[in-house]
Amino acid sequence: MKKAFDAIVDAYDQWYDTAEGMVIFGAEVKFLRTLYEKCPGHWLEVGVGTGRFASTLGIAKGIDPAPRMLVVAARRGIVTCEGIAENLPFPDHCFDGVLMALTLCFVANSQEALRECRRVLHPRGSLLLGTVPADCPWGREYIEKASKGHPVYARAHFLTVAGIVALAQNTGFELADAASTLFWKPGQAPQTEPRIETGIVSIAGFLGLLFRKTTSEHINRERSLRSNLGSGQGYNGVTRKRGR
Ligand SMILES: C[S@@+](CC[C@H](N)C(=O)[O-])C[C@H]1O[C@@H](n2cnc3c(N)ncnc32)[C@H](O)[C@@H]1O
Repeated sequence: MKKAFDAIVDAYDQWYDTAEGMVIFGAEVKFLRTLYEKCPGHWLEVGVGTGRFASTLGIAKGIDPAPRMLVVAARRGIVTCEGIAENLPFPDHCFDGVLMALTLCFVANSQEALRECRRVLHPRGSLLLGTVPADCPWGREYIEKASKGHPVYARAHFLTVAGIVALAQNTGFELADAASTLFWKPGQAPQTEPRIETGIVSIAGFLGLLFRKTTSEHINRERSLRSNLGSGQGYNGVTRKRGR
């Protein structure tokens, strides 16, 4: 999967300029910005692709294993680096924030990728995941396409919201905030003014999950809480049912 996106770089990047792409990207970037702006500082995008998110949000640096994607990102002004999430070529504690937008599902080892994100973050740094969960209508649509051999989705491992949160928590992150968007179903006409809601809304097609790196004190407290309370805890109060 490492360089697979190189084969589709033009089609991938041009989608953002289609009518549908502009509406969807506009909504995604707008709501990621609400979370991103809570953590000012020096950011890295892991899986930067052609640099659409990084350049629009103002993230200066990006890493990706696909060199042709990086050529386009560099044209957008991103300082690029070829490499994989599971082995980031950066020293410990050198970023205030790391963004992974639509990338976690494509990495070969998601636990190792998050461990590396944690390593390069400052002690209270932030990890922002932009993701299409497996358990939403868009995730189910992509999984269906994957089962029919779709060249991109067939390579993805879509995770449920609970799976992503558990993975991050097990890697030393705590969920600090979340936002949801894409409230229309695949195949329906996009909303012209896509709604953005705070929290995790189960039917949303795209979620932004903002995690903070936990200290060892936090981790010990979490562990003892979990063993006292058993499993099945919520997401630190960030989950919301629709309709208030
Ligand atoms: C769906 S694209 C997202 C690109 C960009 N973030 C965006 O939203 O336009 C997924 C990206 O993940 C990259 N990727 C695949 N495996 C990776 C890995 N192990 N580490 C980092 N990036 C990876 C791909 O090359 C691709 O650019």
